[in-house]
Amino acid sequence: MSDFKVTRYKLRASGMSVRGPEEPFSIVFLSDLHNKSYGKGNERLLQEIRNQDPEAVLIGGDLLTSADPPQMEAALELMKELTRWYPIYAVNGNHEQRLKEQTEKYGDAYDYYSQAVRSFGVHLLENTSEYAEFCRMPFRIWGYELPLDYYRRGRSFTLMTEQVTEALGAPKEGCCNVLLAHNPVYFDTYAAWGADLTLSGHLHGGIVRLPLLGGVISPQMKLFPDYTRGCYTKENHRMIVGAGLGSHTIPIRINNPPELVVIDVMN
Ligand SMILES: [Fe+2]
Repeated sequence: MSDFKVTRYKLRASGMSVRGPEEPFSIVFLSDLHNKSYGKGNERLLQEIRNQDPEAVLIGGDLLTSADPPQMEAALELMKELTRWYPIYAVNGNHEQRLKEQTEKYGDAYDYYSQAVRSFGVHLLENTSEYAEFCRMPFRIWGYELPLDYYRRGRSFTLMTEQVTEALGAPKEGCCNVLLAHNPVYFDTYAAWGADLTLSGHLHGGIVRLPLLGGVISPQMKLFPDYTRGCYTKENHRMIVGAGLGSHTIPIRINNPPELVVIDVMN
């Protein structure tokens, strides 16, 4: 029995007015590992990623856990190994963002983390983007960092399109704009900004999933939140939300297996 499931989604270039790929290919998307290891050195997770033969691995944040001290060794080991095989693009989740913003508590842990992943060759996107071509299909991969305030429990803030534009600039023409944004709550804003495909995590599938009702609770303790797992569409804009591969504060998952997301890209 596998201890995580593989969920596949299709992404078609034909609806996006960009040059499609010369042949179909796959992208793997990882999120919310929370420093978990599937076997020694994450061998089972690595094997499954290799089975998918992806052109790239995209990371949606929270691969580490911001405990005291932060837990990141398994996450770093995984990213180091992956960079031997694939281009890796990563954005910060709220756990990485906590290390980054709360230096009085975590000291130089974020510097250690970010310097380590960059030394491996990970493209760490801190409100930046990079151009990439996979099977000759043009992409612009963006990493959007949501300020930590937007993750506080019991609070909800509005995220304006202008705030995303201020952080990132405008999306680019003639390529598929992929936005790595850890928190899926702001899908409307990401779509309005112009993301063709948003990749998110954070909600861990809603922790407990009920038939028909879906995910029960968010990390901000909101009941029956939107966007817990799956693919969502708004006009021509799509968002894929992964259920994540690990857990932290609430270490349970009911009817909600850990998930490796694979996106099959085709014309
Ligand atoms: Fe998160």
